[in-house]
Amino acid sequence: MKYIVTKSYEDSSRYIANLFEKVISEKNDALLGLATGSSPEGLYKDLVDDYKAGKVDFSNVSTINLDEYIGLGRMHEQSFGYYMDQHLFSHVNIKNENIHLIDGQGNPEDEIRKYDEYLENHPIDILILGIGGNGHVGFNEPADSFIKGTHVVNLTEDTIKANSRFFNNISEVPKRSITMGMYGIVTAKKVVLIASGKAKANAISKLISSERIDPHLPCSILHLCSDSEVVVDETLDESIRQ
Ligand code: F6R
Repeated sequence: MKYIVTKSYEDSSRYIANLFEKVISEKNDALLGLATGSSPEGLYKDLVDDYKAGKVDFSNVSTINLDEYIGLGRMHEQSFGYYMDQHLFSHVNIKNENIHLIDGQGNPEDEIRKYDEYLENHPIDILILGIGGNGHVGFNEPADSFIKGTHVVNLTEDTIKANSRFFNNISEVPKRSITMGMYGIVTAKKVVLIASGKAKANAISKLISSERIDPHLPCSILHLCSDSEVVVDETLDESIRQ
C-alpha cells in the first residue's frame, strides 16, 4: 500500500484523475469503481473538465458504484445515483447501459444478486474509495468480521450523523443501505483511497501505522489489495503527526 501526501485536496484530486485517465487510455472499456460523498467531488470535477477538453473518452467505459441507501430511488436528490448523475454521468459521454448502480427502491435480494454476478465476471480496473471517520469503506462498517459479497447494512450512528449534513434533518437519513462487500474491493486491479479533513485523521493514522487487517477498521483491507494507494493532503498528514 502506497501512502501519498499532496499539497492540497485539489492536488490529491488531480493526482487521482490522472490515474483514472491513464487506466482509461490503456483500456478504453475499463470498469471504474465509484464512490460518492464529499471526497471524490474534486476527482469527478477534474474528469469532467478533462472530458470537455477532449482529454478523456468515456464512450466504452463502464462504472459500478459502491453503495446506495435503501429506499431512495435515482431521482431522489440524496441518492447516490442522483449524485453520480449530477457530478459525472450527465456531463460525459458514458452510455447509460454501462452504468451499474444499486436501485435503492429495488428488491434488495435482486440488487445483491445482480451486483455479485456482475462483479464475479468483471473485476474493477480502478476503484476510488472515500473513508468514514470510523474507517468504513463503501458502507462496510466496523464489525467482528468482513463480509465478502454485496449486502444490506445497518448504518452506524456515527455514519448517520456524518451523512446528516446532506439532509434537512437527521431523521431523514436512511438507516440501511446496500454496499459492495470486500470481494469487489480486493479483486479491483487498483484501489485509490482519498482522504481530507481532520475527521479522517484517526482512521488514516491507524491504517498507515499497522499492516494488521482488522474488520473493526474496514479500510485495513487495503493492505490485502494488490495495488492500493492512500492519498491525503499535507494538512491531514500533519494532523496525524501531531
Ligand atoms: C460513499 C461511500 C462512503 C464515503 C465515506 C466518506 O459512496 O462509499 O464510504 O466514501 O462515508 O464520505 P465523505 O467523502 O462524504 O466524507
